[in-house]
Amino acid sequence: MAAKDERIMGYKRSSKNSGVISIAMPFLFVAVLMSLGVGVFQLMKASGKPDQPQGQVSQNTPPQNTGNTHPPDTLSSMKRIDDFLAANGSKIKKVESTEIVATNETPRAVAGGVISFRAKITGTGSDGSSLAEYYSNVDITESPGIIILRQGCAAIPVSDKTPKMLEIKANFFGIERSFSYSILFQNQAESNELILVNRYTKNLGEQFMPESFYPSSAFQLESAAGAALSQLLEAAASDGASFYSASAYRSYSLQETLYDRAIINHGKNQRSSAPPGHSEHQTGLAVDFTTNALNGSLLEEFDQTDAYEWLQENASDYGFILRYSKDNIDVTGYIYEPWHFRYIGKAAAGQYIAEGWESLDEYLSIPR
Ligand code: DAL
Ligand code: ZN
Repeated sequence: MAAKDERIMGYKRSSKNSGVISIAMPFLFVAVLMSLGVGVFQLMKASGKPDQPQGQVSQNTPPQNTGNTHPPDTLSSMKRIDDFLAANGSKIKKVESTEIVATNETPRAVAGGVISFRAKITGTGSDGSSLAEYYSNVDITESPGIIILRQGCAAIPVSDKTPKMLEIKANFFGIERSFSYSILFQNQAESNELILVNRYTKNLGEQFMPESFYPSSAFQLESAAGAALSQLLEAAASDGASFYSASAYRSYSLQETLYDRAIINHGKNQRSSAPPGHSEHQTGLAVDFTTNALNGSLLEEFDQTDAYEWLQENASDYGFILRYSKDNIDVTGYIYEPWHFRYIGKAAAGQYIAEGWESLDEYLSIPR
């Protein structure tokens, strides 16, 4: 693996995680497992992790084999792939294999989640070296139960019509693969650190709130998230990084007020404020940071501050991740928010960063 030149191409991605390797990591992770004949789901079992979703999801159908298919390359599709590679400045001179891989290679998907698909092309370069490149130019067949967010990326929205079984068909120049998922529905009866809240999840409802709050006069967050934030702020202060919470827990009705204001100010297609019932702030697990230099405002310039640099380095050690990253607007449905951090717990945050995930919507599509 290390000797290979791994590239991902097709659309611009955030440089947050230092380049192409980390961007491709969820795919590389999956690709390595696939080449070993092991699915992520099997790995979870082998590593002693539970194969049943815990707490936040309920299982509606038994696990199934995905039955994914790899039709043989045809001459015309191979020719088109060669042309495509040449047009995209590929370093691959001789293609050895082409396959479609997904951010969710398990037989289950959590409703409300997002799944991305990429073409993985391996081959040799002009000097004979082994290369692997990833391309997002994968066509997804439109079908009930999914919303195509962009090429190679689909959400599974929660609605009365969400199917219990879902097949997603992906195609890259005639190479086809079909992904089958049994769909799991989150139990939103209580907040938990791995709850998925986005545009596609079920409305949390007016009554939803954290079970308990962390006692602090500086911010209002759910107990575990608040304890973690308190430690994070203490560590940041001792490192000389100064920032604070501008907004943490928000009730349904406060979110409604903010959402209505955003619509008035920016129009009904605005992508800065979540509709009431769809904001992570209502879970008490999200916090917006600001600094005195920014006068307490939430501005993109936050990513130029020492505070942001400190958070990039350290936030995951306290269980927080950046939620709405740059160049991922199509996936998250929201503008770049360098100030919005989400608590998912230390273990998940460590895994999220180590495996190079780009959105929680994709990460939590896999039952955790
Ligand atoms: N600004 C984020 C998307 C929210 O309103 O929750
Ligand atoms: Zn926020």
